[in-house]
Amino acid sequence: QTDQYILGIETSCDETAAAIVKNGREIVANVVASQIESHKRFGGVVPEIASRHHVEQLTIVFEEAMKQAELSFEDISAIAVTEGPGLVGALLTGINAAKALAFSHSIPLVGVHHIAGHIYANRLIKELEFPLLALVVSGGHTELVYMKEHGNFKVIGETLDDAAGEAYDKVARTIGLPYPGGPHIDRLAHEGQATIDLPRAWLSEGSFDFSFSGLKSAVINTLHNAKQKGIELDPKDVAASFQASVVDVLVTKTTQAVEKYKVKQLLLAGGVAANKGLRAALEKEFSQKDEVELIIPPLSLCTDNAAMIAAAGSILFDKGMRSDLALNANPGLEL
Ligand code: KG4
Ligand code: ZN
Repeated sequence: QTDQYILGIETSCDETAAAIVKNGREIVANVVASQIESHKRFGGVVPEIASRHHVEQLTIVFEEAMKQAELSFEDISAIAVTEGPGLVGALLTGINAAKALAFSHSIPLVGVHHIAGHIYANRLIKELEFPLLALVVSGGHTELVYMKEHGNFKVIGETLDDAAGEAYDKVARTIGLPYPGGPHIDRLAHEGQATIDLPRAWLSEGSFDFSFSGLKSAVINTLHNAKQKGIELDPKDVAASFQASVVDVLVTKTTQAVEKYKVKQLLLAGGVAANKGLRAALEKEFSQKDEVELIIPPLSLCTDNAAMIAAAGSILFDKGMRSDLALNANPGLEL
């Protein structure tokens, strides 16, 4: 058998996902069951509800993936599963399912870092060229990651407080938008004007770290002060001003890092990569630059999915990495 088929399983947060990727780059099945509707009324992900939904959905999602791919267990080279970071109970549901399948069918098991998955979503679009830089922006992470070769991740900058997506969700809640707020703010931002002056956390000279909690507080204070003065701020302008600040900092720091590290590719990864303002600003900045290639995955591969876990798992499997049946969830796993 020459073709490699990796079954990916992802349950770190509120999407139950299974996918099959051929030879590390070709999606042959990609199934995602979203739980967003169940968490919406609580304004965020409720861990216990997430775990219960994963348990209910895992078999369905996995069987659908096998059906889509028209494969049987003999064809599967390895099972790649997210081992962290994420919600511990949610991670455990996927890990236990992966272990049971690996054990009963004697298939190798590979634990995958969730952020490595987000980065490797890009390899489902284009072959990676090193050195490269990845801007990872999700609900739990905001990081600039430098890679000099496959499977080698160096975090050169990260958020000191809130992740970009977290800031989006908190600001959205403040202006009365439903969870998850990122897409709603994005939509409003395009209808408004960035007329409100909001801070940008550049931090120390040359730092690639980020901070978004000050910006979030500034939005809350601005709304509060306006209300006290009896001024009605248009939520569209609030959204546009907030988004302008986030995008400005992300794009400026990323551009500086691309120049400093002289990378061949810039990859965008994570749920916030779905942001239209961010995508447009990066395209504007990098489309004219021949020395660096910008890769932005389609929306379905930016938010949580299992194809990205299978893609990252493929590289780890090729490198000889194997997990045993003692594999455990690691909510704080380092990249
Ligand atoms: O990567 P992801 O699906 O899950 C995590 O691993 O965190 O990211 C989810 C985050 C949420 O905070 C959501 O609000 C944000 O991505 N998001 C967006 C957009 N679409 C999703 N943020 C800004 N603009 C968007 N269009
Ligand atoms: Zn994610």
